[in-house]
This record gives sequence, C-alpha cells and structure tokens, in this order.
Amino acid sequence: MTSTTKVIHGPGVPECVGGSISVEPYHSEESFKKERDHIFRKCWLNVCRTRDVPEPDSYFVRDLAMIGTSILVMRGEDGVIRAFHNVCAHRLNKVVWNESGACPKKGIQCTFHGWRYKSDGKLAGAPDRAEFPNFDASANGLTPIDCETWNGFVFINLDPQHEVGLREYLGEFGDILEEYPFEKLVPMSSYRIEIEANWKVVLDAFSEGYHVPFTHGPTLPDFIDTSLYHMHQIGLFERHHYGSTPANPDSLYSNSALPYLPLDPKVEEARPEMERIMSAFSRSNPAPEFHPDRLPEGVNPTKTKRFGFDLWTCFPNVVAIVSSRLMTHHFWPISPTRTVLESKIYAPDVAGIRDYLFHQFRNIVIREAVREDVKNPEETQRVLDSGARSHMLLSRQEALIQHFAWVRSKYVDSASEGNPTPGTDLLKSVAA
Ligand code: FES
Ligand SMILES: [Fe+2]
Repeated sequence: MTSTTKVIHGPGVPECVGGSISVEPYHSEESFKKERDHIFRKCWLNVCRTRDVPEPDSYFVRDLAMIGTSILVMRGEDGVIRAFHNVCAHRLNKVVWNESGACPKKGIQCTFHGWRYKSDGKLAGAPDRAEFPNFDASANGLTPIDCETWNGFVFINLDPQHEVGLREYLGEFGDILEEYPFEKLVPMSSYRIEIEANWKVVLDAFSEGYHVPFTHGPTLPDFIDTSLYHMHQIGLFERHHYGSTPANPDSLYSNSALPYLPLDPKVEEARPEMERIMSAFSRSNPAPEFHPDRLPEGVNPTKTKRFGFDLWTCFPNVVAIVSSRLMTHHFWPISPTRTVLESKIYAPDVAGIRDYLFHQFRNIVIREAVREDVKNPEETQRVLDSGARSHMLLSRQEALIQHFAWVRSKYVDSASEGNPTPGTDLLKSVAA
C-alpha cells in the first residue's frame, strides 16, 4: 500500500519521490576530489559547539583530513569565537596538537621554534626575531577563517569569497529550528567510529527508516510494520531537508514523549523487567520545556501523537535527530572509502539517579543501534567497485537520499565545465 507521506518540495527543488541515482559518486576518486573542492571547501561546516570553547582563551581543534588541514577555534579574551588555520606562520608546523584546552596568557606556543600566538590569533612572540629581515609581527599571526555561530553551533567557511552568510546558508533548517532550545540540552554520550565506506554511503544509511525493521531488529524490535517507519512528512529545500518520523507509541526507545504520558498498565505488564524499571524512571522528571506540545511549531510538522523525531540533514555532513532530545551525527570524509562518524546524544540535564539511569539505558540502546547502522555501509562499499549495477534504486521513503544527491550535484556539477544545468542527470534518472 502506498504511503500517505506528504513530500514538500521547496522552490526549485525537483520532484523526489523515488527513482534511481548513479553509484559513481560513492566510490570514485574523481568525485571525492570534486566534493572536497566544491562542497567542503565552499560550504559552511559545523566544526564544534560553542560549549566546546566555553571560556575566554579556551580552544578546540577540528582536523579536516579530507582537506589536509586542521582548524583551530578559539574564544578570545573578549569572548568572541574565531577560527584559524592551525598552521604556524613561520615554517607551517601544526601549532596545537591536542583536541582542546586553554590558551596560556603568554600565548599558545609552536613546538618547533617557539613562536607564540594569543587567543585572538595575533602573534605574541617570536624568538630571535631580530634575525628575520623586516619582520612584521602584524602580518604573521594565525591565518583567520570565516567563522559564525548559530544556536550554539560553530560553523566555518574555508572559502574567503563565500557567497552567502551562515544564516542565509542555513535557510529552512535555521528558520524551523531557530527557537528549538538547543542550549538547554546537555551532552550525555558521544561515539567516534571510523568506517571503511564513502561518507555518503554512511550518511544515506541514516537518512531513511526503511532499514529499521531489518537492520535494527535486535535493538529496536518495535518498528515492525510500515506504519511505524513510513515518514509522516518530508521537506526538501535548497540545501537541507527533513523527514518527520513516527514512533511506536509504546516504545521506550523511539517515543520521546513517553516520559510525559501516563502508561497503559497492560503495556507495562508486557514489558521485560528491565524495561519496566526504566519506564518507571522515565516518568521521574520530564523537562517541561521539552514536552512535545511545547516544542517549536515546525518540529513534528504534522502534529501527530505518534511523533518519533524529525530527521534533519544540514548539508553537507550533519544529521540532527530532533525531538524532546537531540542526537547529532557528523560524517567526516577521510578518503573515498573511509569516513569518521561522530555521534553525540544530548538530553535535558539529569536531576538525580533515576534520570541518570534512564538516560544511560537509552544511551546503551542507541549505541547498539549505531553499531548496527555502520555494518551495512562497509559491506556496501566492498562491492561498489564490482560494476554489477550502475545505479541504485530508491523508494518514496528514500526521498532524502535522492534530494541529497540533487543538492550534491548542484555544487559539484555547477562547478564543472560544460554542465550548465546542475542536477540534470539526476532529474533524467528520476524520470527514467
Ligand atoms: S614552525 Fe612554528 S615556530 Fe617554527
Ligand atoms: Fe539506523
């Protein structure tokens, strides 16, 4: 039976309701290089949260292996967050080697010859500087990178000529989630997984619910029929998209409204002991601002009672799973067949041991589900080169993957000679 999923296409977005897309971008070296130059060097990239640089002089390092660079995000003494290439102005050594820390008052020191930099990027000292002819300290600070923040997320843009500012770039993603109280959620757990697969093979695996009954049978046994994994609504925009995804109303894992609902005693009886205990905990202290009815208007757009979460992709490499909690996945490309997945779970702060145990229970279930998610992409990648199929087939429920391919193609193809109409290939394949 065809789903009732409503698909909203933003202005200029081609119809994405199933079809086929080429597998070439998923394994070719050439495509990877184009993505590096025309996507990752051009788009706004979320490199950390403002909470990663909480105080003046704190810093955070994001290595971008795909681009062969490292980014140093620092909060200056004036409280302003700035980003720099993590590269010494002397002989280009990497200045900061660890992931985070505090810039000393006399400045961060390069290990090679001892040049020092303040948290605003200015050069603070260079030993034996009289030996450098016409030395200009003001021209030898750290190289700045455009950096802006939105709702506690720190973004950089490596293109000094970038066409739009961050807020415009975020478009509907920013509009719809502007009022979501991100800052009231605290980190609960995080995972970093290196996967032998192209970044898009991995990202696609997080962009539909079709796989859930099969891939997640062992950990999420509650998604058993299509009514539980067909999306309620899909929104496809200029760059970003969402799929609003149902919950099993009785599930401790998928229904984030559960802590706010009275539970049916019959359901309670049927639960295994562990779940029964945990569901009791779950009612201990729900955070009122995250009650499903108080989430911003655009979250759970159909206002269904069977709301699981809105699965957002902020192009190019962030998936945010938004409900009464938040999970973010960042897909960091390493090579055409290697990706680092960084997953973080946020929830309202715990108020005691009961909340803490409940959160830990959910964290463990989600961790196992993520482990299941990353198994298929590695095996997919191992056979992609076979040439067995030139295209993959997408269902209506996989429209987010189709839309992503269109956005990607706009960036990559519009930069290529002789292809004046970005996304044309995709449209043809959809029609075919
Ligand atoms: S390379 Fe940094 S001080 Fe020489
Ligand atoms: Fe999954």
